[in-house]
Amino acid sequence: MKRIFLISAVLFNTLLASAQHTADPIDKKVDALIAKMTLEEKIGQMTQVTLAEIVQSGGDPAAPQIDMAKVREAITKYHVGSFLNVTAGATTRETWYKIISDIQKAAGEDRLKIPVIYGIDAMHGENYTIGSTLFPQEIGMAATFNPALAEREAAITAYEVRASYIPWNFSPVLDLGRNPLWPRIYETFGEDPYVAATMGAAIIKGYQGNDVGDKYHVAACLKHYLGYSFPLNGKDRTPAWIPDRYMREYFLPSFAEAVKDGAKSIMINSSEINGVPVHSSKYLLTDVLRGELHFKGIAVTDWQDIIYLHDRHHIAATQKDAVMIAVNAGVDMSMVPYDYSFCGYLDELVKEGKVPMSRINESVKRILRVKYELGLFEHPVGNPDDYPKFGSAEFSAVSLKAATESITLLKNNNNILPLKKDTKVLVTGPAANTMRALDGGWSYTWQGDLSDKFIPGKNTILKAIQQKIGKDNVDYQPGTTYYDATEIDAAVKAAKKADVIVLCLGEPSYAENVGNIDDLNLPAAQTQLANALAQTGKPIVLVMAEGRPRIITEAESKSTATLMTYLSGNEGGNALADILFGDANPSGKLPISYPRSANALVNYYRKNIENGNSDDAHGYNPLYEFGYGLSYTTFAYSNLHISSPSLKDGEMLTVTVDVKNTGSREGKESVLLYTSQLYASITPDFKRLRRFDKISLQPGETKTVTFRLSPKDISFINDQSQRVTEAGEFKIQIGDQVKSFNYITNTQPSRTGKL
Ligand code: BGC
Repeated sequence: MKRIFLISAVLFNTLLASAQHTADPIDKKVDALIAKMTLEEKIGQMTQVTLAEIVQSGGDPAAPQIDMAKVREAITKYHVGSFLNVTAGATTRETWYKIISDIQKAAGEDRLKIPVIYGIDAMHGENYTIGSTLFPQEIGMAATFNPALAEREAAITAYEVRASYIPWNFSPVLDLGRNPLWPRIYETFGEDPYVAATMGAAIIKGYQGNDVGDKYHVAACLKHYLGYSFPLNGKDRTPAWIPDRYMREYFLPSFAEAVKDGAKSIMINSSEINGVPVHSSKYLLTDVLRGELHFKGIAVTDWQDIIYLHDRHHIAATQKDAVMIAVNAGVDMSMVPYDYSFCGYLDELVKEGKVPMSRINESVKRILRVKYELGLFEHPVGNPDDYPKFGSAEFSAVSLKAATESITLLKNNNNILPLKKDTKVLVTGPAANTMRALDGGWSYTWQGDLSDKFIPGKNTILKAIQQKIGKDNVDYQPGTTYYDATEIDAAVKAAKKADVIVLCLGEPSYAENVGNIDDLNLPAAQTQLANALAQTGKPIVLVMAEGRPRIITEAESKSTATLMTYLSGNEGGNALADILFGDANPSGKLPISYPRSANALVNYYRKNIENGNSDDAHGYNPLYEFGYGLSYTTFAYSNLHISSPSLKDGEMLTVTVDVKNTGSREGKESVLLYTSQLYASITPDFKRLRRFDKISLQPGETKTVTFRLSPKDISFINDQSQRVTEAGEFKIQIGDQVKSFNYITNTQPSRTGKL
């Protein structure tokens, strides 16, 4: 009797599962389509090729046109399912319309008429369409500590990407910006795992909305899974050494959160970890990503990375082996991107039994599902009239707000800022009069080198200051280039006539390996300019426009005020001028430690032993700490209260703190909550950010900020690679307020799941 019950229960569950499965209308469509597909057609869906391969040769690179013979070859011969990128750089919406329409036309002529999915790198706005809205890069968005603003930024980006007829955005970057040498720091949300996870979640919500298939949303692509940002030598795409425990503690959480939030695709880290290129890692691509994170979307390679398993990494003796290793590891789509070699090799490998058909079907199902979800079968090309707000004043107002909330005031001696509008100002330095200093890489071109040509109407720092206080009050001297001390004397001469020097230093635009450096120090010519200007005795307001924290300790010692603008986008000049002259109150906080010396690169969460001790003064001693940032008003914290002196399994701790605006103007404050575990089986981090909230306060106003913490929020990864919360004493710190509580558990250590 019992047995019969068991069998019928099993049968019932199986039927239920299959009913649920076939009940999903998209699954039904995918299954029906895949049943009709040949092996070649399936492999084509897994193939992604760059635009340059299908455009007319010898045409205008600024307005590429599809060569119909080439695109038909790609689609009808190889059944290519995806294209990406630009040829020379940004182009118009009209050109995009023609490109996408021609590609989808060719797709409509193929036997099964499967639409193509086009992907683009819209990293801080739709940076490859002329007239779009460009926002601060991710590092600046992180400095706002304002997820609602990040979501709005992402929703506008999605709108403008779709307005360019593209449904797939290779963003956000969820790598942790821990090594300031790395040239992609500016593409990250900084060094903290919780900030990366929280801002990443906001961006995904903005990109994908409630329905990724509507005409205003796009599929997100999480980059670059996993551990890409921590190369030992700081150079792009060089080896990382990251133990599994460490990987799960710091690098995995932002991706885990984004997968939970339904991100549709993920791009794989081009580099290697512990000697294993990630494109070959079944452990990371299948066991962890699918088995533990339950990711259902598309895993796409990065640029040419299957080929590089042979050419660069030398783990595959032939190109064909490289394809076998990558696809068996779990790759769904190959960004080949210059030829169709992937198709031929994979076809042979399946026929030889070296790649199972089940692996192909799995990938193709994932790809087709996203194409259905994006609505590409019904609307392969959008309607040009649906996007009246593209590049609108409404959107640039959001960009201005984001830039204003990102800019971080690091020093303001004698309250020199804000300046009066009749101040005679010398604006100088290599970052003063170029949009490259505000937008950085991934702006109109890959390297962001033509921003001044693409957006002549936008305000550089100089133009914004001139507009703010009138040209008569502003003198300008470049002083130096980024690397050469060319006109220091002229700058010094002009400084003598000014009341205040606004000295704009930093980095030129760059992207990826082109931004590799051997030395984190600010190039000597710029420090020389600061030193020479300081000799005049005139106050220096130092503005750092840079993608990563270059060492400025000497130059900064000469400044009366210091501001970090990061890469604040097309409205960055205006935002800075508003702040300098008091029309806006700064509220950014550093999402990354600003190091004092080139060889002292320690993150704020450091271990206790990295604090140094009485015999050794060389502990964590950055120029400015993570989370630091001033305002023109002042805030006082009081009454830190926790709901109980102990936290038990299944309970939540409620934490409240009062924040008062004790100054004389309205201001915004990011309230950061840190916890520290005093003793644990793995050396505990000195402190970790667990929550944050941004509030706005009128002068004299007090607000009570409330946070809730669960035992999982204070957990860590132990030596078994398990997430645990261990019993013991914890400290909570918000501003200058500190309180202790005990975590008490029946099971020791208590396990709260792996992720
Ligand atoms: C970058 C990716 C980018 C891809 C496509 C690669 O070189 O690492 O971030 O999405 O190119 O342009």
